[in-house]
Formats: sequence, C-alpha cells, structure tokens
Amino acid sequence: MIGSGISGLCYALEAARTADVLVLTKGSREDTATRWAQGGIASAFGPGDSVEAHVRDTLATGAGLCHPEVVRACAAEGPSRIAALEGLGVRFSRTEDGAEFDLGREGGHSVRRIVHAGDMTGRAVEDALVRAASTHPRIRFLEHQMAIDLVLERRQERGSPVTGAFVVEKGTGRVRTIAARTTVLATGGAGKAYLYTSNPDVATGDGIAMAYRAGALLADLEFVQFHPTCLYHPAAKNFLLSEALRGEGAVIRRLDGSTFLEEYDPRGALAPRDVVARAIDAEMKRTGDDHVLLDLTHLDPGFVLRRFPGIAERCREYGLDLTRQPLPVVPAAHYFCGGVVADLDGRTTLPGLLAIGEVACTGLHGANRLASNSLLEGLVLAHRAAARAAAEPPRPLPEAPVWDPGGAEPSNERVVVSQDWDEIRRFLWNYVGIVRSDRRLARAARRIALLREEIREYYWNYQITADLCELRNIAVVADLVIRCAQFRKESRGLHYTIDHPEVRDEWARDTLVDRWDGVRLAAESGRF
Ligand code: SIN
Repeated sequence: MIGSGISGLCYALEAARTADVLVLTKGSREDTATRWAQGGIASAFGPGDSVEAHVRDTLATGAGLCHPEVVRACAAEGPSRIAALEGLGVRFSRTEDGAEFDLGREGGHSVRRIVHAGDMTGRAVEDALVRAASTHPRIRFLEHQMAIDLVLERRQERGSPVTGAFVVEKGTGRVRTIAARTTVLATGGAGKAYLYTSNPDVATGDGIAMAYRAGALLADLEFVQFHPTCLYHPAAKNFLLSEALRGEGAVIRRLDGSTFLEEYDPRGALAPRDVVARAIDAEMKRTGDDHVLLDLTHLDPGFVLRRFPGIAERCREYGLDLTRQPLPVVPAAHYFCGGVVADLDGRTTLPGLLAIGEVACTGLHGANRLASNSLLEGLVLAHRAAARAAAEPPRPLPEAPVWDPGGAEPSNERVVVSQDWDEIRRFLWNYVGIVRSDRRLARAARRIALLREEIREYYWNYQITADLCELRNIAVVADLVIRCAQFRKESRGLHYTIDHPEVRDEWARDTLVDRWDGVRLAAESGRF
C-alpha cells in the first residue's frame, strides 16, 4: 500500500482481515490530503434525498463524462461505509437531539447531503483510521519512505505485472526494493504541480507518474478542479475556505462590496465550483484585483463559530475575524479528476496494481467532481478493492530485484531542483489553469519538453533524493495535463479553452493516455 489517506487506510484495514499489509508513506502517517478535508462526505441521508437524486446531481456536474454504474455504486454504498467509519469512532456532527446527521450543503447538490464533523471532517476520519491501523497486528507502517517507481515483472514489456516498488528512504537516500503480491496506489493527487493549491506539500502526483512510467492506462488529466475560495494571505500558503461556508449563506463580493456570481449563473454562490472559479477568475482579470471577498459578516456570529470552529481558529491565527470582516480569497488547484484508470474494484490495466482514491480515474467524477464526492469514492472503492483482492487465490511473494544505482554521483547542483520546480508550477498556473487557449498550451508544451529532458539527464546522473523524485513526477504530471488539454478541442466541465468554447457531442468520451499509444479518445462514451 502506497499512501495513508482515507483510501489507503480503509483498504489496509479491510485487507488486513486476511493478509499482512505494509503501508508506505513518504511523510508521517497522518501527513495526507485527507486530513485537510473540511467539507465532508456526500451521501443520501436527508429528508427528500435519495440515491437516485445523488446520482442525478453527480451526473449533471460531471458534464457527460461520468460512468453511470460507478456513480450509482458510490451513491448506493456510501451510507454503509459512513456507518463503518462511525464504528471506528468517527463522531460526525448531528442534530441537537442526536437523532440525525446535521447535513451540510455544497455547490451542485440539490439538497443538504454532506455528512461532516464540524469543519474538520478529514481530520476526524484520518485520526480514527490511523488509530485503528496503527494498533492492528497485521498492518505495518513504513514512514518517510518514498516510492520511486513500480517494479515490473518484465521490464519494458507492455502490460507486465507489477510486483512491488523501489523505495528511497528520506534523509539517508538509501534505496531498497519492496516486493508485494498486490501493489496499491493510494497516493492522492497532484495539486502541487500548480503554483497556487489547496493541497498539502505531499500532493506531487507520484502515483500518476509511476503508473505512467510503468505503462498503465490513464484518463482525463485535463480535468483539474480549482477550488474557488482559498485564503489570500501572505502567511497562508494553501488554506482552503470550505464550500460549506457558502452552503450556509456566505457571499462572494468584489472588493467594492458588489456581488457578481448571479451574473454568471442563477445558482450564484452554490453553482458547481467550475462555474464559480471561472467567474472569479474572469472578474479578477477584468478588474485587475488580485483577490475577491468571501463575506459571512451578515450571518449569526454564534452559529458561524459553532459550525466552523477550525476555519475561525485558523483565520484568527492570520489576524482575521471571519464574523466581522470579509475574507480575501482566490481560486487554487484543488483536485485531479483524472488519473490511473481503475475499475469498480480498483483494478488498473496492469496485473498486480490497484489504484484507489484521487490517484485513480474510475469514471465517478467525469469532467467535474461534485463537492464531497471524493472522500465517498475513497471509502467505497477501498472497501470494494480490498474485498475483491482478498477473494483472489493466494500467490507466492514475487522476487525483489536489486536497485542498480548505475554511475550516479551525489549532486552538487540542488538548485536545479528548486528552479525547475518553480518554473513548472508557475507556467502550469499561467498557461494551463482555469481558462486555457491553444497558444498558452503550446507555450506550456514547449517548456515542459525542455524541462523534462533536463530533469531526465539530472535524474540518471545524480543520486536519487525524494525531492528529485517529486520533481520528476511533477514534470510527468504537467506533461500529461498539457497533452490531454491540447488534445480536447472543446470546453467541457473543468476544461475551458477560449479557442474552443463550446461543448461538442463527439467529444463526450474520456481522454485516454499511456506511454505506448499516446493520447486518444475512448472508443465509446461511459467506458475507458
Ligand atoms: C470544501 O470543503 O470546500 C472541499 C470539499 C471538496 O472538495 O469536496
């Protein structure tokens, strides 16, 4: 298991019923994007809600690219997975009498549907999972170890089984091989490929890049979700202001106090977040302002502080009182809808390799993810994948080939890593961001080609470090996003380009990409 967020640990706990599980994580076990999730888990519990309504909202937001059977399975299995989390001790917020979940509301949902633990849902879930996994006799953690690449049974052969991973120990740089009967990618997304992101530093697209190098099929990497409201403050590197704030009545304003979202969409602040992020981007470009405002000052301060204690606390640390002053916000890269193609049991196109959570592309999100559907997907897919893996006949542990360092020397040019890293993140933000164009994408393509060449040379000549591996991975992800974005000659969901602004029916299919056949369109809609 590579990764220790909601998907990784749910899988580990389920799989450990019948097998030993090693959880590899490049930070500490809690250092995950899951822990940062504020909103919650979408699931049909409320009055007037149903699995069908959840399916409808997900399909509508996904802009024609969702795979209906995956959407249906996630919506239907959500309630039992949430009950399992409660069984592990997660205390979700409830109504005053304790009888029902206190459901939150977010953009694109037709009813209140978000199960949450105050505004720190991710932390409540991650803490419970870490507690359970850390004391489980069949689960072992290996922290501060970064997977470099997947081990293939037959190197350079298309479709070769995966038999483990090469791993570098942070700090010492020692490389070892870990053999596994099943290798699971639960490595999360790649928000750090962008200059501004709501993601933690660990979100460097490692699983996407490793799977690509190993020859797995990937899909839909042009669909990067930008969250409309990250705090704009010099000391706050990547602090999200949850969509749940707008769900409870927060309003977005220009700096002069006027509102504008209704000019873009009648649903205003509760339109799906691609619409809101694009509207904010357009207004900032039009006015020249470097941020807009998220205003809660008209709401009851007692309610705001009770419902959003974590956000209020963080704002206070930055000298801001959210009950008395509008908060400065900007959009930032938040979630990768595309990733490693995986079926409803997490199986990728490579035998022995599973992918679950944000690293995977199952068809749930389509061209745009509905808010709070990602923790749901992590829960459902992890459970299904582990159950399926347990049902397979046991295989012998594969052999672990020894890592060959070649003639690599210690680097005396670490500046290359930070320089290339900054460059990629900046041009991805500027040229492959919320609004794209053919010319901007072409500029980005020229730059990434050059940088990938430079990074490749550096990678083979110098000793491996975790920083260098992350840079190499970010460069692969950037290249894939650019190529998929250049390929799609229409605007759909999260992919918006001024040169092809219309939705075109013939493009209502997934973008596929692998290292063997490059970028192409899936043969039919709703299938990879
Ligand atoms: C949020 O709290 O706004 C994020 C929820 C999500 O990304 O699903």
